[in-house]
Amino acid sequence: MEPRCPVVIDPNGHDIHAEGSRIHANGPISRIELPGGVLAWSVTGHDAASAVLTDRRFSKDPRKHWDDFLAGKVGEDFPLIGWVLMENLTTAYGTDHSRLRKPCANAFTPRRVEAMRPRVEQHTAALLDELAAGAPGEVVDIKSRFAHTLPSRVICELFGVPEEDRLEMLRGGEVNSDTTISPEESAANFARWHQQMLDFVEAKRRAPGTDLTSDLIATMDQPDGLSPDEIVGTLHIMLATGTEPVKNLIGNAVAALLTRPDQRKLVEDGSASWDDLIDETLRAEAPVAHLPFRFAVEDVTVGGVTIAKGDPVLINFAAVGRDPGAHEGPAEFDVTRPDKDNLSFGAGIYRCIGQSLARLEAQVALPALFERFPGITLAVDAEDLRPQGTFIMNGLDTVPVRLQ
Ligand code: HEM
Repeated sequence: MEPRCPVVIDPNGHDIHAEGSRIHANGPISRIELPGGVLAWSVTGHDAASAVLTDRRFSKDPRKHWDDFLAGKVGEDFPLIGWVLMENLTTAYGTDHSRLRKPCANAFTPRRVEAMRPRVEQHTAALLDELAAGAPGEVVDIKSRFAHTLPSRVICELFGVPEEDRLEMLRGGEVNSDTTISPEESAANFARWHQQMLDFVEAKRRAPGTDLTSDLIATMDQPDGLSPDEIVGTLHIMLATGTEPVKNLIGNAVAALLTRPDQRKLVEDGSASWDDLIDETLRAEAPVAHLPFRFAVEDVTVGGVTIAKGDPVLINFAAVGRDPGAHEGPAEFDVTRPDKDNLSFGAGIYRCIGQSLARLEAQVALPALFERFPGITLAVDAEDLRPQGTFIMNGLDTVPVRLQ
C-alpha cells in the first residue's frame, strides 16, 4: 500500500536519529504515519517544540480532543493504544490535569528529592557490591544490572511496592513501551498490568504504610482527592516513567563514554563534569524519543503549519535535541559543547515531574560506577550495540561490559 505521507515510522526503532533527520527535512513540524496507519504530526524543531509544549491549545486528553479516536477510527489494533487508554495525568487536560499532577509533583520537589540522596547512594553502593562479586572478566549487561535496577529499586521503594511484586509490575511498563509487539499482546499486557495495580492499591488500602501510594490513597477522603482508578493510573505512569527513561539516561551515558575514549578522558580527568555528561546525553540521546501525544483543541498555526483541531501531535525529543538550527554539529557527542540546552524533560505545565530525581540518580550512579570500576570496558564492538526495539524510547537493548 502507498504510504500516506513521506515518513512512515519504523515500529522497531532501528535508527531513530536517521528517521528524525528525515522527518526534520520536511520541516520542524511535519506529517508522519504511525504504525497502524494513524496519521500524526511530529515536532522535530527546538523552537517549534518549545512553542507546542507551552501552548495551552494543545491537550493531552485523547478522550476529549482526538477526533479520530472519538469517531471510533482508532481501534484496539493501534500499537500505542496502551498510552491512549491509560487514564492519568499524562492523558488529562486543564483542571483534570492539575488535580492529578499536584499530589505527585508535591512529592518530587527539588528539596524533597535532595533529601533522597543518601538513600540513592546506598542503593547504588549495594548494586556496585553485587556487581563486584561477579567473576573477574565476566560479561555483564550494565543496563539491566545497574541502569535499570537503581531507578526501579528507588521508585518501588518510594511507592511501597513489595519486593516480590516488583518484577511483574515493572514488566508491564516495559512491555507498554515496546512498539514491536502485536496489538493483542499490547492489550493483554495492559489488562494484566492494570489488574496488578488494582490488587496492589486494594492491599495498601487495607494496610497503609509510609509510602507515596499510601499518601495518594489518603487523598481519597479529601474534596479534590483521587479515585481508586485515578490512583491506579497514577501508579502506571509513576512506576513506568520512574524507571524506563532513567535507565536509558544512565545506559546511554555509560555507552557514550565507553565508545568515545576522548570524552571519557575529559570527564575522568575533570575537564568536563558529570553534569556535562548528563546534559549532553539528554540532548544527543534523549531518553524519551517520540512521546507523549498532544491533540489540537482548535486549529493552531505554529512552526509554519496549521494543525487542525483534533489532530494528534508527537514531540520528537530525540530529533529536537539534534535540531541543526539549535546546535552546531548536532550529531556529535561533545561534553564540552556550550550549547547543551535541551527540552528532553519537556517544558511548561506538563514538564517532567521526576526531573530532579532522574538527575540525582544519574549524578550518583555515573561517577560511582566509573570510580568503582576504573577498568570498565565495552565487551562488544561499538557497532554491535543494538537499539531497544521501540520508537517511543531511545535506548540500547543491552550494554555488555567487562568491569575489570
Ligand atoms: C531521564 C529521565 C526522564 C526523562 C528524560 C523524562 C522525560 C519526560 C518527558 C519528555 C515528559 C513529557 C512532558 C510533556 O508531556 O510535555 C515527562 C513527563 C513526566 N515524567 Fe518524566 N522523565 C524522566 C524521568 C522521570 C521520573 C524519574 C519520573 C518519576 C519519578 C517521571 C515522571 C513523569 C511524570 C509523572 C510525567 C507527566 C507530567 C505531566 O503530564 O504533567 N519522569 N517526562
